[in-house]
Amino acid sequence: MSSLNGDVSQNGNTRNMDSLFTVAEIEEVDFSKLLDRPKPLNIERQRSFDERSLSELSVGFSPRLSARHPENSLRNYDPHEYLFSPCSRRSVISCTPRSQAGFEPHPMVAEAWENLRRSLVFFRGQPVGTIAATDTSDEKLNYDQVFVRDFVPSALAFLMNGEPEIVKNFILKTLRLQSWEKKIDRFQLGEGVMPASFKVLHDPFRNTETLMADFGESAIGRVAPVDSGFWWIILLRAYTKSTGDTSLAERPECQKGMRLILSLCLSEGFDTFPTLLCADGCCMIDRRMGVYGYPIEIQALFFMALRCALLLLNKDDEGKEFIERIVKRLHALSYHMRSYFWLDFKQLNDIYRYKTEEYSHTAVNKFNVIPDSLPDWVFDFMPTHGGYFIGNVSPARMDFRWFCLGNCIAILSSLATPEQSMAIMDLIESRWEELAGEMPLKVCYPAIDSHEWRIETGSDPKNTRWSYHNGGSWPVLLWLLTAACIKTGRPQIARRAIELAESRLQKDNWPEYYDGKCGRYVGKQARKFQTWSIAGYLVAKMMLEDPSHLGMIALEEDKQMKPAMRRSNSWTC
Ligand code: GLC
Repeated sequence: MSSLNGDVSQNGNTRNMDSLFTVAEIEEVDFSKLLDRPKPLNIERQRSFDERSLSELSVGFSPRLSARHPENSLRNYDPHEYLFSPCSRRSVISCTPRSQAGFEPHPMVAEAWENLRRSLVFFRGQPVGTIAATDTSDEKLNYDQVFVRDFVPSALAFLMNGEPEIVKNFILKTLRLQSWEKKIDRFQLGEGVMPASFKVLHDPFRNTETLMADFGESAIGRVAPVDSGFWWIILLRAYTKSTGDTSLAERPECQKGMRLILSLCLSEGFDTFPTLLCADGCCMIDRRMGVYGYPIEIQALFFMALRCALLLLNKDDEGKEFIERIVKRLHALSYHMRSYFWLDFKQLNDIYRYKTEEYSHTAVNKFNVIPDSLPDWVFDFMPTHGGYFIGNVSPARMDFRWFCLGNCIAILSSLATPEQSMAIMDLIESRWEELAGEMPLKVCYPAIDSHEWRIETGSDPKNTRWSYHNGGSWPVLLWLLTAACIKTGRPQIARRAIELAESRLQKDNWPEYYDGKCGRYVGKQARKFQTWSIAGYLVAKMMLEDPSHLGMIALEEDKQMKPAMRRSNSWTC
């Protein structure tokens, strides 16, 4: 197969990073360097890797300047000007958002903070998470629970606002839940599985509180939360990076929690691919949507969690064993993803011309993809410049849909090469009407309809075309887009998306999702006051105001990112 970019180390794009290593290089490096832990905040922040990259992209900003002239943000950024020490301890319940250098935030920001604080969940007096939605007008279902994935933007908002305690509490509480015995009927789940969600039960008679977790055994469709453990590791790294407090991750119980998660996804089996095989509905899209197999969202989160674990694992005997396994897997995973999940104009044309039924190592069409399975829409959707990681790759099956979360995480984790990251952003810009429309951002594109909808979703009435998971528009995705924009030096795209969101979100009471081809309508069954829509907006705003926040959720900015990109034809092996 004409691998699109082959082994990235051949490109030289990812070389010459002095503090971190390329995945391709990891095999040759000294592990002690890989374990370069986050240093105490005030030292780390003087010139963090992310800040350096930002300054080298010359798209930096001055928070003071941008406060008064938002149009100037990300210009004239001097990272040294913006050193800040850890924020003072603040009450999670009462305090107002930190205002940067007299910056008057958008009026929505204050309301968003109020709503976010209203969503806090307390356990025995301590805040431990945020409820999925505070909407009282609709049936609760499980929206009164703290979802692990939903808490991520809340956690980032609190970290960015100098309130790490709740994040620490959440990390420790979910870790306790992990050690529960988990059973679905008579079947016992793996030890490392993290819950999809939990809630606090109050007993008013005994005046006691207990936690109740759902590992999939109560979830609609009994779907497995494969993403939870990955988000947990990613959050532990975000906490460590943001606070400089390495003691939490170093705790034996956190180390064990990480190892248990890793054991689940690094275990050997029948797999012929380094990607992780999953059932449908195992991630943000938690209903049957044809995302079974090797969904991009899970693969990107898997990659990012592995990289975070590499930074967090202790170098003791147990830790080292995992480090070795992670390094090998990252090497294979990045090669596989960058080669086979990547689609751009050239690759599309190659697939269109594929021969089938090839046997042996010399096969070009390794997965026996039948060109006739290429959907019509993809030919129009693909811009001349641009590309993306497709939804899924397995034998004779390529899911060509574009998924937002997986592509953004691919950028943030540097699963995407610098060229691929730029190409993903190129595509978002070229297909703005389709992907952002009137409300950012499509969870996936395009929607499936008619026969395909019946087959793929099992005629799911919630996932009809352009609704919910089936091409619906999810405001929570704003924070991921913003982070990806900042990492690739394109803050103007994020600004445009935030403006769109600001024109509707508050008026519509912070819906969970929007429906329609352009995302014009509040979603059919969308909850209002959906916490991650609120937190996602706040995180996007704070990151744009202070791009150095990006460091807590992004890895390995490539300082060699060049304005002149090499396109896919130069990546061919
Ligand atoms: C929906 C979403 C899921 C989210 C949950 C709670 O089921 O698909 O990703 O975690 O709502 O908000």
